[in-house]
Amino acid sequence: MSITLSIIYLISTITFVIGLKMLGHPETAKKGNFIAAVGMVLAIIGTIFLHDFTVSNINYILIGAALFVGSLIGWLIAMKVEMTKMPELVSLFNGFGGASAMLIGLVEYGNNSGDIAQTSTVIAAIIIGSITFSGSLVAFGKLNGSLKDIRLPKYNLINNVLFLGLVAFGAYIVMGGASSTLLIYALLFASLIYGLLFVFPIGGADMPVVISLLNSLTGIAAAITGVLYGNMVMLVGGILVGSAGLILTFVMCEGMNRSLSNVIFGAFGGDAVVAGATGKTGGTIKKTTASDSAVLLNYANKVVIVPGYGLAVAQAQHVIHELEQVLTEKGVDVSYAIHPVAGRMPGHMNVLLAESNVDYDKLIEMDDINPQFPNTDVVLVVGANDVVNPAAHNDPSSPIYGMPILDVENSKHIIVNKRTMNAGYAGIQNELFFNTKTSMLFGDAKSALTELVSELKNM
Ligand code: TAP
Repeated sequence: MSITLSIIYLISTITFVIGLKMLGHPETAKKGNFIAAVGMVLAIIGTIFLHDFTVSNINYILIGAALFVGSLIGWLIAMKVEMTKMPELVSLFNGFGGASAMLIGLVEYGNNSGDIAQTSTVIAAIIIGSITFSGSLVAFGKLNGSLKDIRLPKYNLINNVLFLGLVAFGAYIVMGGASSTLLIYALLFASLIYGLLFVFPIGGADMPVVISLLNSLTGIAAAITGVLYGNMVMLVGGILVGSAGLILTFVMCEGMNRSLSNVIFGAFGGDAVVAGATGKTGGTIKKTTASDSAVLLNYANKVVIVPGYGLAVAQAQHVIHELEQVLTEKGVDVSYAIHPVAGRMPGHMNVLLAESNVDYDKLIEMDDINPQFPNTDVVLVVGANDVVNPAAHNDPSSPIYGMPILDVENSKHIIVNKRTMNAGYAGIQNELFFNTKTSMLFGDAKSALTELVSELKNM
């Protein structure tokens, strides 16, 4: 490799590390993404023009056309996608990453010299790439509602046996037991089936964890192809995605108080959730109006806003910021309580509120805001449900029992804005809505908040 290309790869690697670090805070995330993207473009251009290819007939027109079509599709999708559809998009992109590792594995199997290290890398790329590809497509379908959870009888046993079978089959090929192309296709097919069976049973609130895990697998697949080509920048990029995905997976497991094995083998979100939906909640609810809610908020000293998925759906991030500003002008202390899995993707609420220029200092993480609820006069819950469900503390039979929640029931008054009494993502009813301190402000978040703001302005 030429010295210039080595330097380009080093610069790209540094931009990836800096970019990833900057993604850790909403204020620097955009710039971090841009810096890493510049590094990626550098690495691609350097590879195309400076790499010593062993083949002589490099078709620059084909490469250019592929780059152009891929970039155009990526750009169009990114411009069009709604914030609420982000997890689906991430899933799809994970799938594409897996598919490329799978295809590279297939191509390189044909060029393989029989070296054990090389064959094992090729086989690993095929297995991991295929699992990531088919698993991500199922995750995509489940997130957009077109696929339902499917659980075969004894699905855990079937999945484990299939996985061990895949590893044994791969090892057999590596050890020179077989070299037929047909067997490679059989391995690929079995890996694709495993990907489907792995994700199909996992449902409900565990899907974000699975997506993050698949994201991590995409990184591992990319790292393996980096090993295959002896390409440092691919290897480092893959390792960064793989390890960041794994860290995020564990952070989310912690946010839901679940272990990774429990997520993979526990099938949360299925029958248990249906049982919970008919659950223990009951009694009467208290309806309120925008004008009564405005009075309560107007005379409060401290108000905490709890944003949830419904806020994102209603695109009410701008009007909630306006509400916060009106209340602040009236001398009310206003902050936002951010649950780690509120919404439908990691950091969903941070991104949404950043879009409407809410001050980052006003976004308080769950562990810091929970002790403040007893001193809070009014909590305004907007389109959030599972993340404020006290069943997580009180009801051992609830499927979300043990999940850390925002303890809003400890505050003096609670106003909940949602459209109906329907359940949230986990499919269970919420006893908070029946609490005597709770008033329900029914309606779409955007119109309800707009009405609330105009009532407050008239006071
Ligand atoms: P959810 O529990 O899903 O509740 C959202 C609520 O918003 C619903 O009850 C819905 O009630 C209401 N809503 C929907 N559209 C609305 C609108 N236009 N205006 C007002 N309200 C509206 O949300 P959450 O509390 O944010 O909890 C997140 C859940 O999603 C958790 O279970 C979490 O595990 C899961 N999850 C999280 C992620 C990540 S990483 N954040 C990813 C996937 C899944 P109505 O229909 O009655 O209006």
